[in-house]
Amino acid sequence: MAEKMDAALDYANQKVETKIDTNRKLRVGIIGTGWIAGAHIDSYKRMPDVEIVAGCDLIPGKAAKFFKDNGVEGVKTDYASHKEMLDDESLKLDAVSICTYNRQHAIPAIYALQKGVNVMLEKPFTVTLDEAIEVMKAEKASGKVLSIGFQPRLDPNMQMIKKIVDSGELGKIYYIQTGGGRRRGIPTPFGTSFIEDKTAGLGALADIGCYSLDMVLNAIGYPKPLSVTGFKSDYFGKDPTTYPGHPEYAEKFGVDDFAAAFIRLEGGIILDFRIAWAMNINTPGDTIILGTKGGLRIPSTDCWNGSVGGPMKIYKTIGGIDYEIEVPIINDHGPSLFDRKIRSFLDAVKYNGKAPVPSSQIVYNQAILDGIARSAKLGHEVEIDVPEV
Ligand SMILES: NC(=O)c1ccc[n+]([C@@H]2O[C@H](COP(=O)([O-])OP(=O)(O)OC[C@H]3O[C@@H](n4cnc5c(N)ncnc54)[C@H](O)[C@@H]3O)[C@@H](O)[C@H]2O)c1
Repeated sequence: MAEKMDAALDYANQKVETKIDTNRKLRVGIIGTGWIAGAHIDSYKRMPDVEIVAGCDLIPGKAAKFFKDNGVEGVKTDYASHKEMLDDESLKLDAVSICTYNRQHAIPAIYALQKGVNVMLEKPFTVTLDEAIEVMKAEKASGKVLSIGFQPRLDPNMQMIKKIVDSGELGKIYYIQTGGGRRRGIPTPFGTSFIEDKTAGLGALADIGCYSLDMVLNAIGYPKPLSVTGFKSDYFGKDPTTYPGHPEYAEKFGVDDFAAAFIRLEGGIILDFRIAWAMNINTPGDTIILGTKGGLRIPSTDCWNGSVGGPMKIYKTIGGIDYEIEVPIINDHGPSLFDRKIRSFLDAVKYNGKAPVPSSQIVYNQAILDGIARSAKLGHEVEIDVPEV
């Protein structure tokens, strides 16, 4: 079994082509058949040990059309909700992908885990920290795999950030600046599920901010967040001219299009963060990681698209001389990041492995998002308290 897990990790890290054991097929369902479900089904179709057996969406007929459009036959879709699908014991589901909007992450995830089904949950983990804790309680009680959808983690250039920190070359890390965003890019290509409070709950903060946070927090071993001063705004989201042809979206906009925060982490580390779906500048800056022995610059990156923004640089002063060491970009010709995300999840399910992106880490990411939202509302710094599960 250990050997098989190693093979799974090798696949995820694209060291070797994993030989997939097709003797045992996994029966998979998809909850929520919108935009990102398309990426999940594409990956599942490429996995020879997967049978896609069921799918559902709250919108009648949407799931059936989705599977037809994706050329997958024989999938049961006559369910009015995730609950009906998970209650159908004839499906004998091994796993589900939860591809619903943010406000519907916790509810189906908890129900699936209670039903003994392994869960690949799309990012962000949830909207609130309380929801994330409830999902973790269900995960613990079930003993099943819950992995959260952060595919950029499987990019070798992203992994290099962690390798650099782990090498000790930067010394003790004490300050990080991260974030990013788009000059104009409020996501409304398929309607308003990203911008309405009732579906999204959080805006840029959770949609792309969670990736920037994961990039640096994963690199430094996910220290516990202690307190945060947060700010959120919605100047562009609330402006009808932002949506040519759909000025009514401005009325519906109920989340943030920009957020910034100053976060204290355990171990005396400060995290300075900002994220934007829209702003009047090209970039809010590079990601920098400062340590007592060296510094790392990661050029401004759309890290949610999966990789770094260009060659990184390590800064060190040795014997009174300043050095800048360029870290070459690793050209990645392996499976897509999405395929690695799905494969590493499936292998954890098959071989009783650990979740590739575990809730025990991402709960700190969620606690920061939650803390920023709370602090922004209250207008002052707030403590972050993450209950043990
Ligand atoms: N990992 C990535 O690269 C990536 C990219 C885009 C979106 N996402 C995440 O995926 C999630 C979905 O995004 P999207 O763009 O596909 O949204 P979407 O609005 O296009 O699709 C969501 C679908 O879920 C359905 N739904 C909601 N609650 C449901 C429930 N309880 N049962 C069944 N169906 C339900 C909705 O009717 C809708 O069709 C978001 O949380 C988003 O952050 C991840």
